[in-house]
Amino acid sequence: MAAKKRSSRISSSSSSSSSRQSEAFKPSSPDSVKSQTNRHRWLITIFFIVFFIISLLIYCQRYYYTASTAVVDVEKPYVYQRGLVKVDSTYREVIDENSNVSENISRRHFGNPVLAYITPWNSKGYDLAKKFSSKITHLSPVWYELKNEGSELVLHGRHNADRGWISDIRMKGNALILPRIVLEAIPLDLLKKKKLREKAINLIIMECKEMEYDGIVLESWSRWMAYGILHNSDMRNLALQFIKQLGEAMHSVNLERNGKTNLQLVYVIGPPRTDKLQEHDFGPEDLQALYDAVDGFSLMTYDYSSPYNPGPNAPLKWIRSTLHLLVGAGSKSRRLGEKIFVGINFYGNDFVMSGGLGGGPIIAHEYLSLLEQHKPVFQWEENSAEHFFLYSDNQHVQHAVFYPTLMSLAMRLEEARTWGAGISIWEIGQGLEYFFDIF
Ligand SMILES: *[C@@H]1O[C@H](CO)[C@@H](O)[C@H](O)[C@H]1NC(C)=O
Ligand SMILES: *[C@@H]1O[C@H](CO)[C@@H](O)[C@H](O)[C@H]1NC(C)=O
Repeated sequence: MAAKKRSSRISSSSSSSSSRQSEAFKPSSPDSVKSQTNRHRWLITIFFIVFFIISLLIYCQRYYYTASTAVVDVEKPYVYQRGLVKVDSTYREVIDENSNVSENISRRHFGNPVLAYITPWNSKGYDLAKKFSSKITHLSPVWYELKNEGSELVLHGRHNADRGWISDIRMKGNALILPRIVLEAIPLDLLKKKKLREKAINLIIMECKEMEYDGIVLESWSRWMAYGILHNSDMRNLALQFIKQLGEAMHSVNLERNGKTNLQLVYVIGPPRTDKLQEHDFGPEDLQALYDAVDGFSLMTYDYSSPYNPGPNAPLKWIRSTLHLLVGAGSKSRRLGEKIFVGINFYGNDFVMSGGLGGGPIIAHEYLSLLEQHKPVFQWEENSAEHFFLYSDNQHVQHAVFYPTLMSLAMRLEEARTWGAGISIWEIGQGLEYFFDIF
């Protein structure tokens, strides 16, 4: 700050002295030089003085420039300063460093939105959300379901809402609180009956008002897919209409908190499972159709592999091709990309590789205890941009473990950045604390 003030003051004096210099030279013509020797000498002296001052200024500016970039280096996140973000990282480094972060944890390093999911069954997420609240722009606790009860619609989940935690978050930062609601109501009824649609929208808006939420994250697509709604073009249109109607209703509710003007709607979308879009996939036309009514799309780019098909959790190339498919490459893609929250998993998988397939998700403490126990060698898989390691258990069964690392996360943040997109993390309580250091 001091350096900046100083150099701007100096440079303003330099511009006035250079204009003085050109004025001083203007009146002199070849004829008058001899008769005005004294004046000439005087001008030369001034010229050298000005030249000296300008050189000094250039030198100072260079000096301040290097000084200020050096300061930026010191402000690099702890994990970068320690050289931990790399391909050839070791299990030892993970064990030693996983809870160490920069001294100043309120500094953000990723400028785009960060949506963090939290689940009631993992209290670690609630604590991490408080600790790193300034790195998170959208918080989505997984609390609600909208269900049928007889012929009635009801919103379940208020009992999950933790008011103490909400007010702690409100005091600490500006993260928007958008609880997730899963639409479990029987789709055919809901979409076909105007009264039920209005009821659903009312229930959601009333809950936001009463609990002072900033909006919601809505998940319905996978359920609609399961019910075959998306294979029928009339029903599909009704489904899109419903989301639009909900978004417009939410946008018309004004809020005074946080400088935000209205309730927000984030919509959960799944990545296509194959190279070509299937009829039921959420595609680019759907994105365009909902663009104005929805504030963001939480794109679930994880779970690429499964126990039946073991491998990386979210190959980087697949994330890239999904984004390409959804937002395209044209001039509009940046605008569309800005509403996408690219999904990033904070959990991993421990797959069984011999004697029958199996295994499944693991979270931070399970991962760390595998590292302690097996002292594995990490391998970097270039195509997916993920680390993994192999180990064999007591019964000599081979396992392959895929779990995010600083390097795999850094590359995904970079990918999101190139699309102008944010990220959405499932689920923060399942990750290592130093993951937050790169955001
Ligand atoms: C990391 O943190 C642990 C415990 O918080 C501490 O004991 C250790 O010295 C730290 N490591 C480094 C390299 O600073
Ligand atoms: C930490 O970072 C924030 C954001 O960059 C800054 O406003 C704050 O002054 C920093 N705090 C300290 C103690 O350096």
